[in-house]
Amino acid sequence: KRIALVTGGYTDEFTISLLSAAFVEGMLDATKYEVYKIVVFEDRWEYSDENQDTHPVNRADFTLQLPHEIIHFDVAFIMLHGIPGENGYVQAYLELLGIPYTSCDAATSAITMNKAYTKAVVADIENLFVAKSVQIDKSERDVAKRLITERLRLPYFVKPNCSGSSIGMSKVRSPEELPVALDRAFSTKNAGNQILVEEFVTGREFSVGAFKRGNKTIVLPITEVMVADGFFDYETKYLSEIANDMTPALLSQDQRSLVEEVVIAVYKRLACKGMVRVDFFLEDQTGKFYFIEINTIPGQTDHSFIPKQVRAAGMDLPLFYEELIEAATE
Ligand code: DAL
Ligand code: MG
Repeated sequence: KRIALVTGGYTDEFTISLLSAAFVEGMLDATKYEVYKIVVFEDRWEYSDENQDTHPVNRADFTLQLPHEIIHFDVAFIMLHGIPGENGYVQAYLELLGIPYTSCDAATSAITMNKAYTKAVVADIENLFVAKSVQIDKSERDVAKRLITERLRLPYFVKPNCSGSSIGMSKVRSPEELPVALDRAFSTKNAGNQILVEEFVTGREFSVGAFKRGNKTIVLPITEVMVADGFFDYETKYLSEIANDMTPALLSQDQRSLVEEVVIAVYKRLACKGMVRVDFFLEDQTGKFYFIEINTIPGQTDHSFIPKQVRAAGMDLPLFYEELIEAATE
């Protein structure tokens, strides 16, 4: 099969996308798959060959123009975090062209790229809770402080409503920290005009992958995110050398069953496809499951959780990626 491994993108997750794509490419069996890594820039989409020569992708039909050949792809493996690979644009485009792809569809992606929409869609799932939050538009920047302090209790998480990898996100412990946090969230590249301010949940943080096998949603082993102070920011996620997670997490059978049940319900509610990863807290006092967000193009870097979870499940990572490709083309 000819695979277009679609990566890059318009946001600050560009570099992470490239790392994820390189990781997946390294796992795919070259005797089974001809893989072309397609890097999406705002002004061009291109493939760069083993000599670093670049070749343009014809965006009218998603073919690749090589010197002596035109490549038609059998399937697109989307490893592009952020816009336009995680918000439904690439999905809708491939849908129109009739090319199978490995992620959630356009409608699901459009919702899940938007944290506030996602929370609204999943909020009434049984045993799922969402942190109290306020959504603020750029036009409300001047009155933001009042809107927030009237409705929420400190500390807060301030984040762009449509972003990933914790980019543009801050934890705010005192009112004085708010202006800088707001400016940072509002100025995040290509993350829209809205931010989300959420009340902090006191509890342990986790992340867990899920994917579809036939009619069954499989939930992978759970990862606990361990951050001594502050939060799981970009630096900790990708640049830290020390392990910041534990897979599988130390949880009781009851806690694991709760997580599994809720994650399966989230996957179903959002009509997900392929692999996704749900981030959540378990509140200390109550044990309640607090949904943070769902990632429909979860990271596949050396530091990322899904690869660790797949291995912890005793599965072979190359076969896992193969399974996603085969499921996309069924
Ligand atoms: N947005 C990053 C890549 C993740 O969810 O893993
Ligand atoms: Mg995320």
